[in-house]
Amino acid sequence: MLTQEMLDSIKNVEATRAERMKTEPRRMSADEKDELLKKFHPDYRPEGFSEIKIGPNKGQKAPVELTNLLHSNSRLLGEHIDLSKIDYDVDVLVIGGGGAGSSAAIEADEAGAKVMMVTKLRIGDANTMMAEGGIQAADKPNDSPVRHYLDAFGGGHFAARPELLRRLVMEAPDAIKWLNGLGVMFDKADDGTMITTHGGGTSRKRMHACKDYSGAEIMRTLRDEVLNRKIPVVEFTSAVELIKDDKGQVAGAVLLNMETGNYSVARAKTVIIATGGAGRLHYQNFPTSNHYGATADGLILGYRVGAPLLYQDTIQYHPTGVAYPAQIFGALVTEKVRSLGAMLVNKDGEAFMHPLETRDVSAASIIRECKERKKGVETPLGSGVWLDTPMIELIGGPGTIEKRIPAMLRMYMNYDIDMRKIPILVYPTLHYQNGGLEINGEGYTKVIPNLLVAGEAVGGIHGRNRLMGNSLLDIIVFGRNAGKAAARRAAETELGKMTLEHVDKYAEELKKAHIDTHMVSPLLLPKYARHER
Ligand code: FUM
Repeated sequence: MLTQEMLDSIKNVEATRAERMKTEPRRMSADEKDELLKKFHPDYRPEGFSEIKIGPNKGQKAPVELTNLLHSNSRLLGEHIDLSKIDYDVDVLVIGGGGAGSSAAIEADEAGAKVMMVTKLRIGDANTMMAEGGIQAADKPNDSPVRHYLDAFGGGHFAARPELLRRLVMEAPDAIKWLNGLGVMFDKADDGTMITTHGGGTSRKRMHACKDYSGAEIMRTLRDEVLNRKIPVVEFTSAVELIKDDKGQVAGAVLLNMETGNYSVARAKTVIIATGGAGRLHYQNFPTSNHYGATADGLILGYRVGAPLLYQDTIQYHPTGVAYPAQIFGALVTEKVRSLGAMLVNKDGEAFMHPLETRDVSAASIIRECKERKKGVETPLGSGVWLDTPMIELIGGPGTIEKRIPAMLRMYMNYDIDMRKIPILVYPTLHYQNGGLEINGEGYTKVIPNLLVAGEAVGGIHGRNRLMGNSLLDIIVFGRNAGKAAARRAAETELGKMTLEHVDKYAEELKKAHIDTHMVSPLLLPKYARHER
């Protein structure tokens, strides 16, 4: 039930709506944005970060929760794993069952490699499935990959690795074509052209969507393709440590059966880490839009064998997570709601920012409105600002919400909130890790031969902030490329003697740094998971 304060505030929103609809709120200047970010974006809160004491990024900072996992023991420390007993023997091992892993597996299979996918939950239990708003590609006559590049480069604070961003935008049109060919049901006009919209920070309408369940539709299609190709998928099984060989190459992984607790050994000529994000680490106590298994596992696996991280200190807080009702606290309210015209409005009915600033700026602006200006609306779990959703029906005509964002409508209707008639309350939610393992343009980690990374576990594609729709894009572009590259490399690889020596070396490094911990990593499941064994 909405509180009296909420009901009174909705009256303010309604009272200013007609006037607000006449003028667009102005955009912030670069200096205003910089000042805002420094003061209110969580990336600038020193208490949220700590120094990494060992490994390739020693001396740099990372979110406290991630540093703690990097400073943890291997699950295999003190365990005897018999590496002469091989349970799975493949060319390409894909770790992770989301969009990047599936794209990689499909392309590696297409190239003729023997592929296996391992995933700690089920194929499709991934952030891909949760993605709503769409996927960017510059494939319309008024647009170009160069424009796409400039938007993303600026939006990411000019920090994206040029070789990676170039690949992302240049290969985007082909990614859409590939998905369309596999059967993704994109929104199309009657003449068959794709319907595209704006996202925050885009200079052209290049967001292709499947209503507001774009990720679920893409994942449905990729999963079908993996299963139709009969690619082996080992579910409810986690990779807990990579295996190297005596030539220093990656040579497979030790797997943990999540149900029985038994270990097994997968030998592989190439390994692709596609484990996704870290939302379930709840940095700085934020709620998250991420799926249950988003615990940064791939970053730990890669780091322990010596692969460096890049931009691990920058996190994306999606500006519009659900602030109310409490049952869906932190769930994603897609940016598409703002693309369709809904404004961000404070408790007095004032539009305090342009609704399509980039995400970091929008999140910081909402935090300022609530924390400093005290213009947020109180909720049982904190506060939030209004997203004036009835504006969508006024701009696009009655029925627009049901047609373009039906999943949003359904989610709120479950709690008797009709977003066509009243605004909804939002606050930033932990959405995406901008940083991850550093790769080259081919998808290989810089120092560990035959180890590739794709998807959210990669750092550097987007710089220090990502634009909407570029993540669904990167899982496809970099997933496909990793699959092709891994298959090619596997064909020319001879593996040496397998070893887990790095596990003991890591433990020695921890000791030398005076880190005495009982924690183990990768975490695999959030700390509030129920363990019934
Ligand atoms: O707002 C959204 O629909 C999220 C999209 C994204 O993170 O790319």
